[in-house]
Amino acid sequence: KIVPVLLSGGTGSRLWPLSRELYPKQFLPLCSDRTMLQDTALRVSAQPGSGTAAGVAAEAVFSAPLVICNQEHRFLAAEQLRQSRCTPRGIILEPAGRNTAAACALAALAVAAEDPDALLLILPADHEIRDAEAFRRAVAIAARAAEAGRLVTFGITPTRPETGYGYIRRGHSMDEADGAYNVAAFVEKPSLEVAERYLAEGTYAWNSGMFLFPAGRLLAELERHAPAVLAACREALDQGSKDLDFFRLDAAAFARAPGISIDYAVMERTDRAAVVPCEIGWTDVGAWSALWDVGTKDGEGNVVVGDVLLEGARDCYVRSDNHLTAVVGVENAVVVVVDDAVLVADRSQAQDVKRIVDRLKAEG
Ligand code: GDD
Ligand code: MG
Repeated sequence: KIVPVLLSGGTGSRLWPLSRELYPKQFLPLCSDRTMLQDTALRVSAQPGSGTAAGVAAEAVFSAPLVICNQEHRFLAAEQLRQSRCTPRGIILEPAGRNTAAACALAALAVAAEDPDALLLILPADHEIRDAEAFRRAVAIAARAAEAGRLVTFGITPTRPETGYGYIRRGHSMDEADGAYNVAAFVEKPSLEVAERYLAEGTYAWNSGMFLFPAGRLLAELERHAPAVLAACREALDQGSKDLDFFRLDAAAFARAPGISIDYAVMERTDRAAVVPCEIGWTDVGAWSALWDVGTKDGEGNVVVGDVLLEGARDCYVRSDNHLTAVVGVENAVVVVVDDAVLVADRSQAQDVKRIVDRLKAEG
């Protein structure tokens, strides 16, 4: 069986002012009327109402998910899962985020203790996947590669020289799994020049940030490439405590885990990586521009959410939850209005919203 691991520890600062420290984006309904965590959980469950015909088939494949989030968000996470009638295998609470290598190590340790052959499906809780059925087909292919001992990535066809992603060069196809390939190179967050070259070469895929790992094999690779992360996580679990569904880590032990991502810690270094190229309608909902990309547009290319009036606006994203907001004669803008803040940005610079958040933090 495949154990979904929902990574729900991000802060989503580029989606300010909606996404806040106490209420980050994965707990908000950004792409549908369910929150991103709920959509992610439903994608790997088999409940009636999950909206896809593949739901029944999925039941045979996925077991209850393991959720990993910040301890501040324990009630948000638990309540949202309950509303979606999702009963998690457990919720691991991080006193502070130590990045994804640590989160993956925690999942592998927790699951391998019961079944070292289990497959961990690592899922960021802030991605939009429009074709859930194609996604599940890709997971089925990945499962064959993972059963052959591989650390499997999901490759997305790149459309721009994005420097915030990992890039995967595809090698030979795998004998054990039709549709899966060896990874010839994995490069996390290349420079713009390098990303442009990869895009032009046409042999690279984006790393989606989702992975399928055999639990025992991931532990072996962490032991080899990131032993300090593994040791700190083992100690944090051993000295932690369980309270209902929640698992509390030992804070001092966990703080000793180096804050490195799984991409740098393991995927760039391992010789056991595989990739399943897939067309699943994937979007990392990182910034407001991504919500414009995935949103339903009116005749003028505007995406509108909430109480909004437009006149002569084009290709804008406008969201206003509690105030009537009017936008006149503006192009390519992002306008987001919440009770205590307003954001107006050029759509092409939506990534820089993070700088505002950094300044707010610095100024306290
Ligand atoms: N529980 C937990 N704890 N979750 C975390 C933590 C943590 O400390 N840090 C990050 N996450 C979650 C985030 O919320 C997000 O859902 C996911 O893990 C990935 O983290 P990001 O910080 O968003 O990574 P990234 O976007 O820079 O890069 C990754 O994703 C790209 C695609 O979106 C990499 O895997 C890239 O290679 C990839 O292309
Ligand atoms: Mg991300």
